[in-house]
Amino acid sequence: MNILLLSGSFHSKSKTLALLHNLSSFLDEHELEIPKLDSLPFYSEDLSDEKPEIVSDFLLQVESADGLLICTPEYNHSIPAVLKNAIDWASRPAFNSPLKDKPVSIITQAASPVGGARAQAHLKLILDSTLSNIHMCHEMMVTNIDNIFDQNMNIVDTKVLTRLERHVNDFIRFANGT
Ligand SMILES: Cc1cc2nc3c(=O)[nH]c(=O)nc-3n(C[C@H](O)[C@H](O)[C@H](O)COP(=O)(O)O)c2cc1C
Repeated sequence: MNILLLSGSFHSKSKTLALLHNLSSFLDEHELEIPKLDSLPFYSEDLSDEKPEIVSDFLLQVESADGLLICTPEYNHSIPAVLKNAIDWASRPAFNSPLKDKPVSIITQAASPVGGARAQAHLKLILDSTLSNIHMCHEMMVTNIDNIFDQNMNIVDTKVLTRLERHVNDFIRFANGT
């Protein structure tokens, strides 16, 4: 099974990326990829006929994935532009894009007790527009993100790890249609 991991943050100390890397222990039989969405140009119709290679490569990754697992921080009560831009690229042609019927699951993280809930809701609305197959589940929000890692960015909060494992396993079943 090929699960494509999408991140909403790419800086060198990103907790989102760290969280996604921690998921590898639950996904070790599966192919793991985290495309660098921050290298994609801004979506433009001027580029859509002859897409830059980096865009075509990303679209191919989305197309060939059995499912997308998105993890993102909340930015100003919504999702970061880098993630929105990637979804915009993958969303064309409208209603018949690589995102159509694609199983997608969402994890948000924040320092706040709200856990990025508003970003989560916005992301669901966006994925509605792409006719994606949204993984309906207990919403997976990680709160208190600054205190779940050790100094090597391994998750040491066992409750969070257990919830993440349950979420990922549930998503794999969902993406498998089982
Ligand atoms: C531009 C910007 C806007 C933000 N807006 C919110 C917000 O609306 N709600 C929230 O909980 N955190 C907000 N934050 C905090 C980040 O979401 C939070 O620090 C997150 O854990 C960072 O994840 P990262 O380390 O993967 O980049 C914002 C941060 C930035 C840089």
